[in-house]
Amino acid sequence: MKNYLYKLFINRVTNYCYQNCLNYVSENTSILDVGIGNGVMMENFHDLIKSKRLNITGIDINEQYLNHCECVIQNHHLQDYVEIQCERVENFLPLKTPFYSFILFSMSFMLVQDQGRVLDRVKKWLKPDGKILFFQTMFKEKMGLMEFIKPKLKYVTTIDFGEVIYENDFFNLLKSKELAVVEDRLIKREWFKGEYRMIITTPYENS
Ligand SMILES: C[S@@+](CC[C@H](N)C(=O)[O-])C[C@H]1O[C@@H](n2cnc3c(N)ncnc32)[C@H](O)[C@@H]1O
Repeated sequence: MKNYLYKLFINRVTNYCYQNCLNYVSENTSILDVGIGNGVMMENFHDLIKSKRLNITGIDINEQYLNHCECVIQNHHLQDYVEIQCERVENFLPLKTPFYSFILFSMSFMLVQDQGRVLDRVKKWLKPDGKILFFQTMFKEKMGLMEFIKPKLKYVTTIDFGEVIYENDFFNLLKSKELAVVEDRLIKREWFKGEYRMIITTPYENS
C-alpha cells in the first residue's frame, strides 16, 4: 500500500528529478543519493545508469522502500552500479573521504531535521570539484496555507512531504555553509506558485 501511494504521489516528480540529475552528472562518477526511496527511478533510467557507468550509493531510513529498491536493482541487473544502505544521512559514513563527485537530495532535503549540520557533514565527502544537487519544490512568497497543509499530508498519504522550503531561507543557508550556486534550473511550475527546481552547488573553494 505504501509503495502504491508513493508511486501515485511521487513518481511524476521523481522522473523530472532523475532525468535532469542523471543527465547532468558526468560518466564514471560516484554519486550519493540521500533518500533514494523505493528506487522507482531505476525502472526508467537503468539504461542511462549503465551507459554512464555510474556508481550510486543510495541511503534511506525506510526499510520498506529499500526492500522495493533492492528488487528493482535485481530486476534490472544493476548490482554493479547501485548499492543501498539503511542509514540516515545524519549517521552515514562513506568508506573513505573524499569519495563522491555528486551528492543528491531529491525531494529529501526538506525532511532533514538539522539541515545546516547535514550540509557540514556531506561537504566533507565531496571530491575536489564535487557538487551537491538539490531537487525540491520551492516558494518565493510566504504560503501560510501550504505551511499548514504540507506537514499534515503524511497522515493522509503516509508520505512525509516535510516542511515548506522558501527560496530566501534556502539560499541564506547555502551562503552560511559557503556553498556557491552553480546552476538554478526551473523544472516545472506547480500549484500555489510552487516551483520544482534543481539547484546545483559547490563549496566556495571550488567555485
Ligand atoms: C519524498 S521521498 C523522495 C525519494 C526519491 N529521492 C525520489 O525523488 O523519488 C524522500 C525520501 O527521503 C528519505 N529520508 C527522509 N529523511 C532521511 C534522512 N534523514 N536520511 C536519509 N533518508 C531520509 C525518506 O525515507 C524518503 O524515502
